[in-house]
Amino acid sequence: MHNYLSLNLHICILAHLHIMFQNRVTQLFKIDYPIIQAGMIWASGWKLASAVSNAGALGIIGAGSMYPDILKKHIRKCKAATHKSFGVNLPLLYPDLDEHIKIIIEEGVSIVFTSAGNPKTWTKHFKDQGIKVVHVISSSRFALKAQEAGCDAVVAEGFEAGGHNGREETTTIVLIPAVVNAVSIPVIAAGGIATGRQMFAAMVLGAEGVQVGSRFVASDEASSHDNFKQGVIHAAEGDTQLSLKKLTPVRILKNKFFRLVEEAEKRGASEDELKEILGLARAKTGMKEGNLDEGELEIGQVSALINDVLPAGKIVQNMWQEFNEASNNPVKKYNFTT
Ligand SMILES: Cc1cc2nc3c(=O)[nH]c(=O)nc-3n(C[C@H](O)[C@H](O)[C@H](O)COP(=O)(O)O)c2cc1C
Repeated sequence: MHNYLSLNLHICILAHLHIMFQNRVTQLFKIDYPIIQAGMIWASGWKLASAVSNAGALGIIGAGSMYPDILKKHIRKCKAATHKSFGVNLPLLYPDLDEHIKIIIEEGVSIVFTSAGNPKTWTKHFKDQGIKVVHVISSSRFALKAQEAGCDAVVAEGFEAGGHNGREETTTIVLIPAVVNAVSIPVIAAGGIATGRQMFAAMVLGAEGVQVGSRFVASDEASSHDNFKQGVIHAAEGDTQLSLKKLTPVRILKNKFFRLVEEAEKRGASEDELKEILGLARAKTGMKEGNLDEGELEIGQVSALINDVLPAGKIVQNMWQEFNEASNNPVKKYNFTT
């Protein structure tokens, strides 16, 4: 059921008979729409996650910028704010990882998205507790590793994506079909997806859901600073670039900090020098505290298409509506001549 015709048939039935959309991703997470709000440091706390889940998609708390006690508070507030499914995103290189995992299990979180680490280390531990595990990957090779580790699905994240990024630099449009061919578990597409039409394109390529990051940074409920949200909606094509390739590659807005790193990289700065420039709290300075010059501002290429800050529920609605319209009229902007 992965080809375009069957997808289109699925949506037509949905539009005309008002039946629910279902595929392996909606079934896995018990959600209405196969849209996942990405876990994002300094952006996706309980407010954003619960708003997205209440809108019928899957909200995710980003644990990567939270101390364990803060994560616990966010999980508890999220449980109070929604009765629907939500998840926690856990970068596996996090220093307080053991504590985070303990809290996730104690608090009864049922979905975990892991990233930045080896899926073999923790997947079985989560699965033994009945937790669904999805791992973020940037190549078919890593997708296979995640499948072998027992993950329920993978997020295939392309080069366009905001935040930390694979070294392979494979774009979403190439990565999705490659990963779909490589694994049998569901593939969730990420990187450069902010509209229903982009979502439809990803699904035509074989994805069964989409993980959306940058679009939700520019939402009312995101905990990012207003200055950063304004920076995102004013960004144009070419305003983001992959930086810090010698350390961990990260896609950020080109600001004063970006130029500092660029200049250091050009003169062949060592890893230690780059670490010194990065310092300890650049991401917090930029995304949480709103210092658009000195901060590390993680955002995707798709910021060029984001022009407004909206309620998260409205973002879900808009995407789903446009996805349905696209499925009924996929090539509306073209005139074919013979
Ligand atoms: C501000 C920001 C913070 C992010 N933080 C994380 C994170 O903590 N963990 C993670 O796995 N991915 C993180 N990401 C990547 C997202 O989870 C997601 O895969 C990506 O944003 C998708 O691409 P898009 O930005 O084009 O929608 C972050 C992305 C952004 C924009």
